[in-house]
Amino acid sequence: MSETLITPYRDGPLLVRGPFRLVDQDGNEIDTGRETVALCRCGKSRLRPFCDGTHNLIRFKAPSGAEQGRAA
Ligand code: FES
Repeated sequence: MSETLITPYRDGPLLVRGPFRLVDQDGNEIDTGRETVALCRCGKSRLRPFCDGTHNLIRFKAPSGAEQGRAA
């Protein structure tokens, strides 16, 4: 896979597939050990920045597509 694909899962994490580097705010590498990772977007994971499934327990709600009225 030559490109990176990021998919917001409905009511769940951001799934990142393909070649990428994950670094913290100071530029320190965060070892993922794999080519596909789920990044928490509910904010409640105990393994941030990774998803640990807590979004299911808290019934996190978010669309898969872009929300209306918000541009990058
Ligand atoms: S999105 Fe899964 S724990 Fe936050």
